[in-house]
Amino acid sequence: MGKAFRTALAYVYFRLTSPLAAPVWLPTPRNLKFRQAKQTLNRIVLDIIQSRRHDRTEHYDLLSILLTAQDAETQTGMSDRQLQDEVITLINAGHETTATALAWTWYVLGTHPHILTRIEDEINTELGAEAPSFETLPRLEYTGRVFDESLRLYPPGIGLAPRMALERDELQGFAIPKGAIININSYFTSRHRQYWDNAEQFDPDRFLPDPVNRHKYAYLPFGAGPHVCIGKNFALMEAKTILAAIIQKFNISLVPNQPIEIDPRFTLRPKYGIKVTIHKKIDRYAATG
Ligand code: HEM
Repeated sequence: MGKAFRTALAYVYFRLTSPLAAPVWLPTPRNLKFRQAKQTLNRIVLDIIQSRRHDRTEHYDLLSILLTAQDAETQTGMSDRQLQDEVITLINAGHETTATALAWTWYVLGTHPHILTRIEDEINTELGAEAPSFETLPRLEYTGRVFDESLRLYPPGIGLAPRMALERDELQGFAIPKGAIININSYFTSRHRQYWDNAEQFDPDRFLPDPVNRHKYAYLPFGAGPHVCIGKNFALMEAKTILAAIIQKFNISLVPNQPIEIDPRFTLRPKYGIKVTIHKKIDRYAATG
């Protein structure tokens, strides 16, 4: 699936940025590669949907909810095709965003060892050797703040989905014609000096719960309004769990002198990846019995 997604996303990016690209139905090598990737994704997801339709065991997951969902007016469920589109949208919106955010988090932890030490202390105090769980996650407040701050400096979505102005408007002296496409870029709002002190500095404590006098929309990693990310709480929980579980077991340090650059295409990927060295921590809990 990973390879198929990469091929499909590269193709979508190509179409977005190449106004003269050949229509998708033409059998060019690029189009054929895309169509094959799309077919692979559709087939894998359809197999899962169909096997679930015949599976009587309760799974307590998102797919079960989608499978039993009914249209309020027609009382009918979704067709395989509709489910396929929903599932592919969720996988697409849900996997690379969190992965990108975590990649940048390892980067900032590697460049701020005192912050990593504070997370380790929190994990030792709050969890000890216990694996992070839904019940214990709220105790990892500092780890949560680190992830919030990492999303501020490196918002994976870069910006919100583009919006179209329904009417003529004016914003701070700028005329907005009807039908104009508006892009709101959270990468810039979350580094804007007007809204953030020492905007370029990584400081998780700016997300302490005390009331901070900050513009409501200066921090938009998950968007805002009716189309705010539906996976926000899931992503925050998932990221905290992964950070805690890895930091509990491994020492992670950045490979020195590697090139770090952003690649702002779909998500704010690190252009050359983030290379780290991983060592298993000595299991002191096991050692002391
Ligand atoms: C750190 C992880 C994530 C980030 C930074 C992120 C960011 C965003 C952003 C910026 C938007 C656009 C909001 C707008 O245009 O106003 C969005 C929408 C969306 N996200 Fe996420 N997301 C993350 C994780 C997830 C996960 C895990 C899922 C699903 C399991 C998900 C599903 C969606 C969906 C379906 C939408 C479209 C909502 C709509 O248009 O109504 N996202 N996300």
